[in-house]
Amino acid sequence: MTEDGTMTGEGMMMGENAYKPGLAKIADITLEATGERAIKTFKLEFLDEDLRKNFTFKPGQFIMVSVLGVGESTFAISSSPTQKGYIEFSAMRYGKHTKALHQKQIGDILGARGPYGNSFPVEKWKGKNILFIGGGIGQAPLRSVINYCIDNRKDYGDLNIIYGARTSKDLCYKDEFSKMAGMDNLQVHLSIDVEEEDWEHYVGFVPSNLMRLKPSPENTIAITCGPPIMIKFVIQDLIELGFKDEQIYTTLEMRMKCGIGMCGRCNIGNLYVCKDGPVFSWDQIKDLEGDM
Ligand SMILES: Cc1cc2nc3c(=O)[nH]c(=O)nc-3n(C[C@H](O)[C@H](O)[C@H](O)COP(=O)(O)OP(=O)(O)OC[C@H]3O[C@@H](n4cnc5c(N)ncnc54)[C@H](O)[C@@H]3O)c2cc1C
Ligand code: FES
Repeated sequence: MTEDGTMTGEGMMMGENAYKPGLAKIADITLEATGERAIKTFKLEFLDEDLRKNFTFKPGQFIMVSVLGVGESTFAISSSPTQKGYIEFSAMRYGKHTKALHQKQIGDILGARGPYGNSFPVEKWKGKNILFIGGGIGQAPLRSVINYCIDNRKDYGDLNIIYGARTSKDLCYKDEFSKMAGMDNLQVHLSIDVEEEDWEHYVGFVPSNLMRLKPSPENTIAITCGPPIMIKFVIQDLIELGFKDEQIYTTLEMRMKCGIGMCGRCNIGNLYVCKDGPVFSWDQIKDLEGDM
């Protein structure tokens, strides 16, 4: 922690004010999804030079972002730790806080504290194929791991991305997926729920696309994130395809307040999602399904 009590890149240290955010400038904003619930990606640069240069995190971790004077929300860090000097998060417009966030412009100042939570065990996954299955804004934490794997390409096998949203307007990161199209050993399978003119990819729900593609479980880790109903069916389908519980990972989004294991708001069973998660293997949480 710096002398004025702001967090460092190692995450929050318990001190005089564990909730004090670092101030960060919005360096860029990308409008990702223009559907009913718009999604924007915000690129943040900490004002404090030390923090900007040394902020480190791992794929799967999250931050608490505040619109000063309005409130605070939890967001997965959607950029990869291989991208230095800034962090990105992608926010869907929902209620009071995210509506205020969506009104912010490049150059405006936000608060950010973190990084918090555990992360995807990317070191343990070296040498494996990785299957990413995302729905809607659930692609945000997956984007961090995907770009991490791309930037450390020799460490991983095939990367297979299955991603869908309700309509083509709700799909995020479309430009990035177009750039990935030419990469070796990387495949992207996009889908939308209902037919649209000029749509060239799959039409149907994400679990149906998964079952159509039937990826092999051999030497493969599957990570899924999206609406709870999608995750439920995707996990059932992965098991039917032969994936073992310990080959399946997800990241949970229980409502949070403190983000640091103090308030008890985010528990499922005896786990605090903010401290014990948000990343879990299916093996760890399958018996808590009713609480999710
Ligand atoms: C670990 C974690 C990671 C997250 N990562 C992201 C992320 O990367 N991008 C992102 O956009 N959001 C993410 N969220 C969700 C995000 O924190 C909330 O959407 C946000 O706090 C909503 O704040 P608000 O003030 O705009 O809405 P509120 O005023 O708090 O809520 C308004 C209404 O919308 C409902 N609501 C709010 N958020 C959601 C939601 N996500 N799903 C369904 N109903 C909702 C509320 O129950 C309420 O009825 C994450 C949450 C967690 C816990
Ligand atoms: S959000 Fe407070 S304990 Fe998890």
